[in-house]
Amino acid sequence: MALSKKMESALNEQIILEAYASFLYLSMASWCEQKTLDGCAEFMHRQSDEERMHMLKLFNYVNEVDGHALTPAVKQAPHEWPSVQNLFQQVFEHEQKVTKAINNLVDIALQEKDHSTSNFLQWYVDEQREEEALMRSILDRIKLIGDGPQSLYYIDKEVRAINTRAQQGPAGGK
Ligand code: FEO
Repeated sequence: MALSKKMESALNEQIILEAYASFLYLSMASWCEQKTLDGCAEFMHRQSDEERMHMLKLFNYVNEVDGHALTPAVKQAPHEWPSVQNLFQQVFEHEQKVTKAINNLVDIALQEKDHSTSNFLQWYVDEQREEEALMRSILDRIKLIGDGPQSLYYIDKEVRAINTRAQQGPAGGK
């Protein structure tokens, strides 16, 4: 079954959102490097790569089902954040926005009786649950440690450990 125009256009919108997330997290990685938060920088680089993978997975799917995947025009991501806690808060809020967008895509797929796309999107539904849980756990730890100048070393150490576990996948434990 070919993609409906409505579904195709909604999937192309999602490609833009995933591409923006990839650049946003790359910009955050750069900010972290400036602050010598190397563990946080590694984490954001990995997240940025993941978002590019999310974008490409959608891109390839659209073409596979005979739609036309469009390379996204991405708006400029911010370059500065007031604190590391604020940075992770922004990540968490962006992921919540992506979750809403994915849920909306599933709604459209169901309205269009497009079971192939609905099935394809389930991978993103699971991924968003994991990403939100991961970001929430980092924020909880930062709140526990505090994000004053004395705490940055410990935050960075924690985020590096979380990043190593995330690299190992679910079997590595979250
Ligand atoms: Fe691909 Fe983290 O949303």
